[in-house]
Amino acid sequence: MEPVEDEAGQLLGVLTDPDQLVRAVASGRQRGADLDVRRLELRWVSIKAGLRLQVVSLDEHQAHTSNLTPQEAPAQVEELLAMPFASWHVETPTETIQVRVTKKGRKLVSRSGRVATEPHPADRDHDRTKARFLSPDEEFLEVLGITTDGGRVRAARRDKYMQVEAFVRALDPVVPPARDAARTAGRPMHVVDLGCGNAYLTMAAYDWLSRRHGLEIDVTGVDTKAQAREHNANVAARLGWSEHMVFVAEGIGAVELETPPDLVLALHACDTATDDALARAVRWGAPVILAAPCCHHDLQRQLKDVGTVPEPYGLLDRHGIIRERFADVLTDALRAAILRLLGYRVEVIEFVGSVHTPRNTLLRAVLTGAPPTAGQVQEYRRLVGDWQVTPALAAALGPELAALHA
Ligand SMILES: C[S@@+](CC[C@H](N)C(=O)[O-])C[C@H]1O[C@@H](n2cnc3c(N)ncnc32)[C@H](O)[C@@H]1O
Repeated sequence: MEPVEDEAGQLLGVLTDPDQLVRAVASGRQRGADLDVRRLELRWVSIKAGLRLQVVSLDEHQAHTSNLTPQEAPAQVEELLAMPFASWHVETPTETIQVRVTKKGRKLVSRSGRVATEPHPADRDHDRTKARFLSPDEEFLEVLGITTDGGRVRAARRDKYMQVEAFVRALDPVVPPARDAARTAGRPMHVVDLGCGNAYLTMAAYDWLSRRHGLEIDVTGVDTKAQAREHNANVAARLGWSEHMVFVAEGIGAVELETPPDLVLALHACDTATDDALARAVRWGAPVILAAPCCHHDLQRQLKDVGTVPEPYGLLDRHGIIRERFADVLTDALRAAILRLLGYRVEVIEFVGSVHTPRNTLLRAVLTGAPPTAGQVQEYRRLVGDWQVTPALAAALGPELAALHA
């Protein structure tokens, strides 16, 4: 590190240049200084009103967001740079700039080529070419225990970090229909995470949508565990996000929402809880659904019980492991088919490398309202008929499927 005379001037240039600033974080307090703000986060966002420098400041209790026009930004940023923060972390497309004020008040600056995170060895080649959607020095990751206070992903949490990062990446292309639905309804976008567990994805989606997209977001996290609700509500309070987040201890099948969701998420909701999530999302008329299913047992059990396999597919049922894998494939193929029959455009993708989870299939569905063709209805009915199975999702959406004309 080397002392730099005019760092504030250089930083001002970077922070106020939308082509230069990826994100900046100011944190800590200089020795003996008075500072109410715990942390500042800056990034350029494109919102309906145009390009804005979004400044999120966190005090002990909550987060305050302001969106500055390019004309307002220089004067405001100058004031922010004059505040007695102990450090600034600034990312540009090509480098990371760290400014640290020593106990004696000396300003030390270091610059390094930008590496947003340490990739898993298995991802290294891939990671070289893509920037992270979820930077490890986001405060919420530390509060959730995914990273250390130095912004390093904990080894034991790396897989979860990679899953959540990849999920948010997969979410990004389908933000517009969810955003437009919320705009049409004239309210903040409502994101519902079903089977949210410790809310890693819930918080990441909130962070990404509110800060990167500059959207007003309300989030509901649903999980049967009361302890998850307590934990998640505490995390939201620590982050100053409580105003926008509600956690309920309820079953997916029973939860009642005051506002319909614009976006439904489900990451590894166990077994048929994924089907409950898809069925609820369909009945709520959710414009966008993303579900990464977890373990599947439902069709495995049914295939085993039925015992008779349609000719000539006996080989698919002969060995336990092949039956299991076939049941997985059949389950997800039927889930996608059912969503299509009920008016969704569906993609089935591998959202994260299998090294991070073997449960790496993602159903990404956008409501178009297009009615199915008679051929699609027949194809689906023939498949479940031949295999003599009733997928849990079909059972949950029985009336909707029965009403379809072949
Ligand atoms: C494997 S964890 C995944 C948690 C979180 N989505 C994640 O990826 O970190 C599955 C979660 O779903 C919850 N869950 C399972 N069945 C549920 C149901 N029917 N209703 C609500 N929550 C359910 C469990 O309590 C658990 O927290």
